[in-house]
Amino acid sequence: MKTLLALASSPRRNGNSEILLKEFCRGAEEAGWQFELIHINSLEFRPCQACDACAKDGRCIVKDQMQEVYPKVINSDALVVASPVTFGSLNAQLKMLIDRFQCWWHAKYNLKTPFVPDEPKRKGFFICVGALKRKQYCENAIEIIKVFFHNINHKFTGSLAYRGYDEKGAILQSPEALAEVYQAGKDFVKGI
Ligand SMILES: Cc1cc2nc3c(=O)[nH]c(=O)nc-3n(C[C@H](O)[C@H](O)[C@H](O)COP(=O)(O)O)c2cc1C
Repeated sequence: MKTLLALASSPRRNGNSEILLKEFCRGAEEAGWQFELIHINSLEFRPCQACDACAKDGRCIVKDQMQEVYPKVINSDALVVASPVTFGSLNAQLKMLIDRFQCWWHAKYNLKTPFVPDEPKRKGFFICVGALKRKQYCENAIEIIKVFFHNINHKFTGSLAYRGYDEKGAILQSPEALAEVYQAGKDFVKGI
């Protein structure tokens, strides 16, 4: 059975982005996949220390729970990431995780031995939710996710952004959003 790895970045458990993410995963499940959800906020890990030790073999020497995340990405078949908008972009928890993939940047570009092969392309999807209607915020987040997916050899295949949802669980008032993200999860895994 194929596995979808789902990264939830909000510190708010069962908040809007996590609700959407789980609906996406439910769609993938309906299409015959299994999923594993990681709550980034529950991981004990430090930001990248820019020590460059990873330049020699592509491996991060910082011994914390990020060491559990790398193999999960390697062993999954596709990736979906969900983030709330915070201060006009994706949240700090997710950015901290992304920066810890600097070792994969070295593996890909300097050592030419990426941990995830370039072909066939694995797929990545992004979900974001913000309180304000301002489109630019989600676009900022999407730009960063594109860089991340490119670095880890995942093809950015799409995103869904929801604006105007602030209170915990507010997204539940929008059955259209839930249906859309569920269908997106189903469609995402089709043909993989
Ligand atoms: C620290 C912080 C900063 C935020 N900054 C923004 C922002 O710049 N723009 C915005 O639209 N919403 C912002 N929000 C609101 C969240 O994006 C919104 O409440 C979202 O629904 C939270 O998703 P969650 O329930 O998955 O955590 C911020 C929330 C927090 C806690």
